[in-house]
Amino acid sequence: MAFKKFPIAAYACPETAPLQPFQQHEAEITQGQISLKNVTVSFQRRHQKVTAVENVNLDIKAGEFVALLGASGCGKSTLLNAIAGIVKPTEGSIWIDHQQVTEPNPACGVVFQHHSLFPWMTVLQNVSFGPKMLGFPAARSVGMQFLTLVGLEKFKNYYPSMLSGGMQQRVGIARALATQPPVLLMDEPFGALDAQTRSIMQEELLKIWTTFKTTVVFVTHDIDEAIFLSDRICIMRSTPGSIKEEVMVDLDRPRLPDVMLTEQYIKVRKKVLAAIRQESLKSFNHQSH
Ligand SMILES: Nc1ncnc2c1ncn2[C@@H]1O[C@H](COP(=O)(O)OP(=O)(O)OP(=O)(O)O)[C@@H](O)[C@H]1O
Ligand SMILES: [Mg+2]
Repeated sequence: MAFKKFPIAAYACPETAPLQPFQQHEAEITQGQISLKNVTVSFQRRHQKVTAVENVNLDIKAGEFVALLGASGCGKSTLLNAIAGIVKPTEGSIWIDHQQVTEPNPACGVVFQHHSLFPWMTVLQNVSFGPKMLGFPAARSVGMQFLTLVGLEKFKNYYPSMLSGGMQQRVGIARALATQPPVLLMDEPFGALDAQTRSIMQEELLKIWTTFKTTVVFVTHDIDEAIFLSDRICIMRSTPGSIKEEVMVDLDRPRLPDVMLTEQYIKVRKKVLAAIRQESLKSFNHQSH
């Protein structure tokens, strides 16, 4: 699968060179289109079949930022892992840029729910690993450029265990971006962070996304995070997981945290809350019978 071609300056520049912006314009966004067709994922748990995700149909435009929002256990990670090619759909199919996803592929950069850096590698080695495996020239320089992007160039020789949770997640994001994938899949990447760090990370992520215009699928169970970040929110229902409703987030960009005080924001929030409440009530009634 071909990569999005950014005019990345890193291949030629030494690791100390300042970060070159490699913006692409809206009209140029051609890669990163995702299509899920009747996707069902079931697992065998002992003698029982568990359907984690059922009959999901979803089309995501190249460059779109989509949030998957739902309660714990509703199948968000399963759906994301299926898009990444880590989990195989039991039924249906997943397509990225008209190529069927059948195995993990370099078109997707993944930031996992729990940070998954290699503990025996330094921060720079972690970020350069993907480019190196894919045979990029000057993988180290590429890694350095992405470390700079997340503001951690000074920590290049540290090991992950020497960093805070927020810094580890920033390294995780740099690592996922370093192969310049058309699609970035993020599974509750800021879930373990305190409120202030989380808010800063959300803003940073939006800046990165504005620069790269990569397609983002972002899993969260936090309503405000979903609204603040995304163009569209897919609200999931549980047991089995499926998409209950989609809400468009028509808030101007760039977004700053004070957007949350606007009338427009509150309108979207009410819509999302109503959909989620309906779902929670259903599941509450289901459990109490
Ligand atoms: N490998 C597996 N084997 C068996 N069951 C699984 C497997 N992976 C997920 N499940 C089940 O599928 C359902 C959905 O799990 P999933 O991890 O996708 O939910 P989630 O929405 O990501 O939850 P959380 O918000 O807690 O991360 C759960 O009932 C879970 O137990
Ligand atoms: Mg999960």
